[in-house]
Amino acid sequence: MRTKTALVTGSTSGIGRATALKLAQDGTRVVVSGRDARRGGEVVEQIRAGGGTAQFIDADLSEAGAAAELAARATEFAEAAGGSLDILVNNAAIGAGGPTAGTEESIFDRVLSTNLKAPFYLVANLAPAMAARGGGAIVNVSTLAAERALPGLGVYGASKAALDLLTKSWAAEFGPAGVRVNSVSPGPTRTPGSEALGDGLRQLAEQAPLGFVADPGDIAAVIAFLVGDEARFVTGEVISVSGGRTVV
Ligand SMILES: NC(=O)c1ccc[n+]([C@@H]2O[C@H](COP(=O)([O-])OP(=O)(O)OC[C@H]3O[C@@H](n4cnc5c(N)ncnc54)[C@H](OP(=O)(O)O)[C@@H]3O)[C@@H](O)[C@H]2O)c1
Repeated sequence: MRTKTALVTGSTSGIGRATALKLAQDGTRVVVSGRDARRGGEVVEQIRAGGGTAQFIDADLSEAGAAAELAARATEFAEAAGGSLDILVNNAAIGAGGPTAGTEESIFDRVLSTNLKAPFYLVANLAPAMAARGGGAIVNVSTLAAERALPGLGVYGASKAALDLLTKSWAAEFGPAGVRVNSVSPGPTRTPGSEALGDGLRQLAEQAPLGFVADPGDIAAVIAFLVGDEARFVTGEVISVSGGRTVV
């Protein structure tokens, strides 16, 4: 079977890292991306040690033009290996927030650039080629804050709510050409990024029926399913992976 290539943004840490490791374990060639070359290199080493193929490509997705450049470099890597860029996981994001009145314009712009504009231009630069080949899969990583009012997370939640709308829009736009697009909305998950929440993470988790904090691998497993062929009839969905938080 042909080896697929996946680009996972923000795969130097947390959920993105777990997704890169899982996809590689499943036989996918992986582009690991982020700003931190040291952490990225460690993920690549871990994949290679397990017999997989991976490459780190640095990108600061808060910067103008970075998404287009990352898309071009990731495609180049895939093609040099004899493949094509078949899978995109838009995972990199920042959760900066606070009360509305105190939110500086620079923070607002950085959150929107990283969480919304970068995924938009990655899809704009990668999905047409997937469509021309007749297939591809994209997962956008969302959050519960995209559908609930969580204190201090308005801008972050708004960026992800817009991303969830794009999931549906892209599913409609690229579906006829065989490209599937879904969102995965994780509940509280123990990652370097969520460490700052301290005990708040556990308290948030306890509001859901299952009541425990997820491991990054719990989220990565669902992302890996959605980008795989077994999910060939699933597109345009926002799938909550939150221990049942959406039912209470
Ligand atoms: N953890 C949770 O409880 C939780 C819950 C709901 C949703 N989520 C979502 O899950 C995703 C991953 O979160 P996480 O908890 O795994 O976070 P994390 O451990 O902080 O990892 C975030 C990743 O994003 C990358 N990143 C951040 N800013 C970037 C930028 N400007 N350019 C390029 N890469 C950038 C980081 O890489 P570098 O540092 O190398 O740049 C890192 O790899 C996010 O979309 C988040 O919104 C998480």
